[in-house]
Amino acid sequence: MVISGKELAARLKAEMAEQVATFPEKYGRVPHLVVILVGTDPGSQTYVRNKEKACDVVGFKHTTYRLPEETPEQEVLDRIAALNADDSVDGILVQLPLPKHISETKVIEAIAKEKDVDGFHPLNTAALWQKRPNNTCVVPCTPMGIIKLLEEGNVEIAGKKAVVLGRSQIVGLPISKLLLDRNATVTICHSRTKDLAEVTRQADILVAAIGKAKFVTGDMVKEGAAVIDVGMDLDENGKLCGDVDFASVEPKASVITPVPGGVGPMTICCLMSNTIQCFLNRF
Ligand code: GUN
Repeated sequence: MVISGKELAARLKAEMAEQVATFPEKYGRVPHLVVILVGTDPGSQTYVRNKEKACDVVGFKHTTYRLPEETPEQEVLDRIAALNADDSVDGILVQLPLPKHISETKVIEAIAKEKDVDGFHPLNTAALWQKRPNNTCVVPCTPMGIIKLLEEGNVEIAGKKAVVLGRSQIVGLPISKLLLDRNATVTICHSRTKDLAEVTRQADILVAAIGKAKFVTGDMVKEGAAVIDVGMDLDENGKLCGDVDFASVEPKASVITPVPGGVGPMTICCLMSNTIQCFLNRF
């Protein structure tokens, strides 16, 4: 079965739109998301446009600052400080990657943790890994989207073997923790993993987040596995594809997510729900 992230995201956004429509009466306004995009990376421009569209669908106010590639780091930090202090702003997102002269760490740490809709701030990361009771931290969008896709596909997680390809701060590490929290046995693989295919063939749940086009092939996948493709890669013809070779993996998988139309729309959907969470926390 192919799980459509596009359809699931549309359904969840429609539910959020109904919820947001009640906010002006209850709270006097709707959530306001501010996006900062520095430079002209084509991928980032597409992501940001899609985030703006999603804000319109759920009924948020949104503002995008498109800054030139050569914007000084301090100018970005100053802008974040002003947005932190601005009571009319509920969520701040700085699109990554940033130009090389700007420190992503400094930028992420500059965003007030209460407005960190990406869930990248060290205090949100720490809260995710510490798992305190009644944890209300903001969870990064892509990992949360993956969990929702697994739930949509009725994929059992508890007791299953999950293999995560990739150890990034944005996806690999947080999805590993979310799977662990749901009682999977998690293995994290990376570029130095030996006998990778041996490991991936053990997986009941396989999450591919390494950024290599069609890297996961059918021979690396167990019959009946659930396969989640986080890749946003270009194939040999310059066409968008995932980390998974869909043609050879789909016949073996019990459920699989496509690219495009899988994880991507769910990431944006979870950004919308994180923004609602940050908004509501302020009242
Ligand atoms: N670049 C790729 N994915 C993301 C994301 O989830 N958030 C931000 N801010 N930048 C990204």
